[in-house]
Amino acid sequence: MTILRTCTALACVAAAASARQLPIVVDDYVPAVPVKAPASYNGTNGTTIDTKKLQADIDINKLFARAEELAKIADLGIPEYNHPTRVIGSKGHVGTVDYIYSEINKLGDYYNISNQTFPAVTGSVSESRLVIGYDVPKSASPMSLTPATKQHEPVYGQLLLVPNGGCSASDFPVNMTGAIAFIKRGTCSFGDKSANAGRAGADAAVIFNNVAGELSGTLGTPSPDHVATFGISLEEATPYVDMLHNGTKIDSIVYIDALVEEIMTTNIIAQTTAGDPENCVMLGGHSDSVAAGPGINDDGSGTISLIEVATQLTKYEVNNCVRFAWWAGEEEGLLGSYYYSQNLSPAENQKIRLFMDYDMMSSVNFAYQIYNATNEDNPLGSGELRILYEDWYKEQGLNYTYIDFDGRSDYAGFLDAGIPSGGIATGAEGIKTAEEARIFGGEAGAWYDPCYHQLCDDIHNLNATAWEVNTKLIAHSVATYAKSFDGFPKRVAGVEERGLKRREKKTPMFKYKGNDLVM
Ligand SMILES: *[C@@H]1O[C@H](CO)[C@@H](O)[C@H](O)[C@H]1NC(C)=O
Ligand SMILES: *[C@@H]1O[C@H](CO)[C@@H](O)[C@H](O)[C@H]1NC(C)=O
Ligand SMILES: *[C@@H]1O[C@H](CO)[C@@H](O)[C@H](O)[C@H]1NC(C)=O
Ligand SMILES: *[C@@H]1O[C@H](CO)[C@@H](O)[C@H](O)[C@H]1NC(C)=O
Ligand SMILES: *[C@@H]1O[C@H](CO)[C@@H](O)[C@H](O)[C@H]1NC(C)=O
Ligand SMILES: *[C@@H]1O[C@H](CO)[C@@H](O)[C@H](O)[C@H]1NC(C)=O
Ligand SMILES: *[C@@H]1O[C@H](CO)[C@@H](O)[C@H](O)[C@H]1NC(C)=O
Ligand SMILES: *[C@@H]1O[C@H](CO)[C@@H](O)[C@H](O)[C@H]1NC(C)=O
Ligand SMILES: *[C@@H]1O[C@H](CO)[C@@H](O)[C@H](O)[C@H]1NC(C)=O
Ligand SMILES: [Zn+2]
Repeated sequence: MTILRTCTALACVAAAASARQLPIVVDDYVPAVPVKAPASYNGTNGTTIDTKKLQADIDINKLFARAEELAKIADLGIPEYNHPTRVIGSKGHVGTVDYIYSEINKLGDYYNISNQTFPAVTGSVSESRLVIGYDVPKSASPMSLTPATKQHEPVYGQLLLVPNGGCSASDFPVNMTGAIAFIKRGTCSFGDKSANAGRAGADAAVIFNNVAGELSGTLGTPSPDHVATFGISLEEATPYVDMLHNGTKIDSIVYIDALVEEIMTTNIIAQTTAGDPENCVMLGGHSDSVAAGPGINDDGSGTISLIEVATQLTKYEVNNCVRFAWWAGEEEGLLGSYYYSQNLSPAENQKIRLFMDYDMMSSVNFAYQIYNATNEDNPLGSGELRILYEDWYKEQGLNYTYIDFDGRSDYAGFLDAGIPSGGIATGAEGIKTAEEARIFGGEAGAWYDPCYHQLCDDIHNLNATAWEVNTKLIAHSVATYAKSFDGFPKRVAGVEERGLKRREKKTPMFKYKGNDLVM
């Protein structure tokens, strides 16, 4: 099951909100209409945008000064979380959104800023325990956004093996009342499996991996049918699967104390008042961090690169509109970017010529990574953007690699909406290969970002070389398309291009939704 068919963030948040009768306050984004700017500012100081000049305006000291400010803002999360964080719903995140807004607002009439507020789901597990027979599986991990077990108490029941992966109601044993569903990963999302188990009467579900290794994922958009759900490794599941096949009865205990709640959070969008509003180059990073830490690299780095490029851009006259976005709720499953991209009217969708994603620009043990966004598999124009990045690294005499374009960041909603996309990154929890250490320096066998999603993603978790290089590349991408879309494919007007190529190939859209595995 793909994200598209399970639920887009829009459908998710809407469904979740209506289920709980939440008021949806939506400050919907209405794009800039060309208006006469005030006499004090004519949209330019007479200097035409030029990529070399804009790149030369990028100053690493200014990026670091902003990182210091962001680290202080993350400290606003301490009273509630006991450590710095900028997770949505925290004071650290509200402070980040205020900071972005005020920094762009300082630039006067060069930008038109709007807030897009939307409901977002967050979950937290305070306690959990799984016992199968007499064993406590070491790999047991509660799925993100899992509900608690009934009354937040342990449930006791027979472990029943669900044939065929539990993707349809008919897979389930006739009477699952009071039982615990034991389901294999695959074919459909974890959320669907859990909901099917709930509808069949199960009190809880345990999903086991279908490949070697542990299984931790997310149920995605909450459903009233979801039951408390764990993931466990294939290795730990196999003996029980054999016993159940043999007709052995196995009793289990599942306990999850968790809270899933909805809050309101905000995307910030800033668009140049000058430039052709029918042809926009759009770029974004995410304003939020995970709860575990301050997120100074993820994605404080991209957030700051965008603020600085937006600031320096004001020295120049643009021919095409430039639209910056700072998404909220990326860490909860790309919520803000999906909300935005799925809410575009067809006419507004067509005005976005491309979307560029800038998430994690400054990993300590970095690689220069380009999303492998080919035209073959993605909306036309993605491939041209990929070439722009390649050409630039080559021109600088720098090496680069490709990484999977698999739905781990905010471009996913744009691809779903048929908008050409791409981007660069410097690496998260992946392990640097010996070959990469040879071409980029750094340490082979270690994570690209040793503090990924941890408390230590702080002011020290940045590499100045990578950050400066990549912010210049961001400046280059903005300057190039702000000047001209010559040679860049036109959007295909009136055609539902969205997700077409991936669907034609009948491959699942994305395996991930943000950082979480969904199926
Ligand atoms: C700015 O955007 C608002 C709506 O978000 C629109 O009403 C206004 O005309 C725009 N202003 C300019 C100067 O483009
Ligand atoms: C805008 O103002 C600048 C400096 O005041 C001037 O050089 C330029 O020609 C003006 N541009 C337009 C389009 O009026
Ligand atoms: C938009 O958000 C910023 C930052 O939180 C806030 O200062 C501003 O008042 C908001 N504007 C509107 C129109 O809600
Ligand atoms: C299903 O199983 C439960 C628990 O064993 C039992 O109480 C219930 O009567 C059964 N329901 C049906 C329809 O068989
Ligand atoms: C399954 O049952 C067979 C026959 O009773 C037995 O030989 C075998 O050891 C059992 N396997 C497991 C995993 O319990
Ligand atoms: C206009 O842009 C030039 C080139 O970057 C810059 O040196 C100058 O300070 C700018 N002038 C104003 C008034 O912003
Ligand atoms: C990039 O994607 C294309 C398909 O779109 C694939 O053929 C190619 O092998 C991929 N390259 C890398 C380095 O992953
Ligand atoms: C690029 O990789 C080559 C090895 O293939 C290496 O010799 C060279 O130093 C690298 N360039 C940079 C700028 O690191
Ligand atoms: C950044 O990375 C480069 C290349 O690996 C390395 O030479 C430099 O020391 C690093 N800087 C910091 C501050 O870690
Ligand atoms: Zn990120």
